Amino acid sequence: MSKAPVRVAVTGAAGQIGYALLFRIASGEMLGKDQPVILQLLEIPDEKAQNALKGVIMELEDCAFPLLAGIEAHSNPEEAFKDTDYALLVGARPRGPGMERADLLAANAAIFTVQGKALNKVASRNVKVLVVGNPANTNAYIAMKSAPDLPAKNFTAMLRLDHNRAASQIAAKTGTAVGDIRKLTVWGNHSPTMYADYRFATINGASVKDTINDQVWNADTFLPTVGKRGAAIIAARGLSSAASAANAAIDHMRDWALGSNGEWVTMGVPSNGEYGIPAGIVFGFPVTTENGEYKIVEGLEIDAFSQERINITLAELQGEADGVKHLL
Ligand code: NAD
Ligand code: LMR
Repeated sequence: MSKAPVRVAVTGAAGQIGYALLFRIASGEMLGKDQPVILQLLEIPDEKAQNALKGVIMELEDCAFPLLAGIEAHSNPEEAFKDTDYALLVGARPRGPGMERADLLAANAAIFTVQGKALNKVASRNVKVLVVGNPANTNAYIAMKSAPDLPAKNFTAMLRLDHNRAASQIAAKTGTAVGDIRKLTVWGNHSPTMYADYRFATINGASVKDTINDQVWNADTFLPTVGKRGAAIIAARGLSSAASAANAAIDHMRDWALGSNGEWVTMGVPSNGEYGIPAGIVFGFPVTTENGEYKIVEGLEIDAFSQERINITLAELQGEADGVKHLL
């Protein structure tokens, strides 16, 4: 017997990431090839954006995806999020050359108070929320704080792109296949302060740290390359990453919904005090996922270098949280 459809809300549906994301959700890459979906798409009321959304919907229809059980276009978040089981909050301004993601806070923070309140009011009580719009951790924090009737753990931020970028750099450095890398993580903020950590990682069971054995490469090449990859893409493309961001969003939601089979993945999730991160701060952690729940990997040793990096990225997140206090 076929499964009942689930509702998937996507904001910024007519934007660049939306265009790289929706077709993959509708084809079953996110929630499984046996899971019908109803897409509830949100764009700003602006005529141009709504027209662009109509075009995207025409294309979705023209794909004749067997799993696509319905498509709705909305300009009001309370309609777009009605009963939704999954919410991918992508719609927000992207940065341009020379900007940091935190510079977007003034422009984007208000979006996430409104959308957090709307989720609180109308979404499924089990809704799984992924915030992609930047600055993603703090926007997820704002949405979570604006939705007091929903479990805080249901609000997550996208660090998966950073995790995938780190895996790809390590595979290139060691001449190995990216799919053989395990137990990698990225701590902290989706910003240049993020700490991509391969101390626990393995390739076919061998330690990545011992294989690379080069702390200078780690500190001076690997960390800045991963941390500044978003800016490098903006400099090259004139636009921020879209296909790789959509791919990471699919990875994040798929693993959360369907399980990571014991593998570590990185998610930005509200801390419960793990590793000394104050409760509520949305922080990149290593997690495993099972039965629709994530669990932070605990008990990892944090050496002095790592602690210093974690302190820097935490201080940045605390500064951002301070800066949005008036909105909460
Ligand atoms: P884009 O400008 O192409 O598209 C954004 C879309 O969102 C636009 O169509 C816009 O009309 C819409 N939008 C704006 N405000 C909205 C609102 N309140 N409700 C609904 N829709 C709204 O941008 P993009 O390239 O798709 O990027 C979207 C966001 O994702 C940016 O903030 C970008 O910085 C961020 N991003 C995050 C990551 C990550 O790893 N976390 C990676 C890439 C991009
Ligand atoms: C990225 O990491 O590619 C995105 O967050 C976009 C950006 O502004 O860097």
